[in-house]
Amino acid sequence: MQSFTFWNPTKIVFGQDTAGQVGKQAAKFGQKVLMVYGQSSIKKTGVYDLVKKSLEASSLQVVEFAGVKSNPVLSHVREGVQLAKEQQVDLIVAVGGGSVIDESKAIAAGARTDGDVWDFFIDKATVRDALPIVTVLTLAATASEMNSGGVVTNEETGQKFNIGSPLLFPKVSILDPTLTYTVPANYTAYSGVDAICHLLEGYFTATDPNTPLQDRLVEALVKTVMESTDRILVDPRDYEARATMMWSATLALNGLTPAGIGPFGFPNHMIEHSLSAIYDIAHGAGLSIVLPAWMAYTARRAPARFARFGREVFGISEADDQQAAAKGTAALKAWFERIGSPTTLTAAGIPATDIPKIAANAVMLAKKWRLDDYTEEVIGEILQLAR
Ligand code: NZQ
Ligand code: ZN
Repeated sequence: MQSFTFWNPTKIVFGQDTAGQVGKQAAKFGQKVLMVYGQSSIKKTGVYDLVKKSLEASSLQVVEFAGVKSNPVLSHVREGVQLAKEQQVDLIVAVGGGSVIDESKAIAAGARTDGDVWDFFIDKATVRDALPIVTVLTLAATASEMNSGGVVTNEETGQKFNIGSPLLFPKVSILDPTLTYTVPANYTAYSGVDAICHLLEGYFTATDPNTPLQDRLVEALVKTVMESTDRILVDPRDYEARATMMWSATLALNGLTPAGIGPFGFPNHMIEHSLSAIYDIAHGAGLSIVLPAWMAYTARRAPARFARFGREVFGISEADDQQAAAKGTAALKAWFERIGSPTTLTAAGIPATDIPKIAANAVMLAKKWRLDDYTEEVIGEILQLAR
């Protein structure tokens, strides 16, 4: 195991009927709130009323900022920054899924700088200050509720890039599994894919062989996410399954599982961000296309980790590493298909002739993330396996 610092200051309030605590939690960070939310779901589900009432009951003044789209965009972030500055809000309350929380993080940083918020995404500026953020999570997938990153697409450049800073950890996140009862089957599937991919990026790309605890944590979480997703797809109001999925997804990207594994990368996310930037498909749908292809490509040279994955997660008994790796990858791909997440570009309506364009976009993020082995040619070869 390698040396590490693990620091995660987000307070989690978890459980049924906890959303009504948001006012009490938010009041600790100021008096005037920017309430950020998405397109329409929270008004349909009643979460809007619940949160608004709770904030007002704690005598908080609420300025609303609606309309965050799935795969949030820079132009809308800039509107939010302007509103936060004009209204001189003290804090942000983000009510929604990863997109709402990510955009809230960008607004939180943008509201406390005189410069352009995009400078934080292209590493031209460092976040030095940010508004405090409290979240009420309505979709369990990204772990944005308990991490310090956010992803936004710049519509002008086509870049889907990330912002990151210890100042962007939410102060408090309220995780009420009953708020996810209404998440439709397609997003339930994409969420399972996303959480699994968060776990596997480190599991497959780190090179320290002495990480039995981290390996088993990942394997247990992957199995648990699969089991919960299967249950939710049968009964969307299965409390135990929704609760288990919600906490699993949070743990999948809050820094816990890779602590001690040493350096690792996010190559699948690097490639996927181009799919959701260019075609505006759901992030999880993009990942179920990229991950099996990337696994097949990478296992050709170094099958051992992929073989272990197949054996531990899918019970594959093949002694040969290449064969066990191939069977494990096939089993994961088959599960993605079974839950209704696409596993080929064609299934998502993306023509194979676009592969060079996607690779040219992805390489911009490969450079930012210093994934130097991922040239346009390599990314193109991986995508050819996902046609
Ligand atoms: O906009 P509304 O009307 O609220 O609808 C949303 C949206 O259409 C809907 N929804 C949310 N909660 C619901 C619900 N519908 C019914 N009932 C509910 N309770 O679901 C749709 C998807 O929501 P979104 O927030 O976009 O999904 P998700 O949480 O998967 O977030 C995806 C974004 O997060 C980024 C992705 O790239 C993508 O832009 N990621 C953020 C990460 C992070 N901050 O750490 C890491 C991830 O790897 C990922 O990149
Ligand atoms: Zn992800």
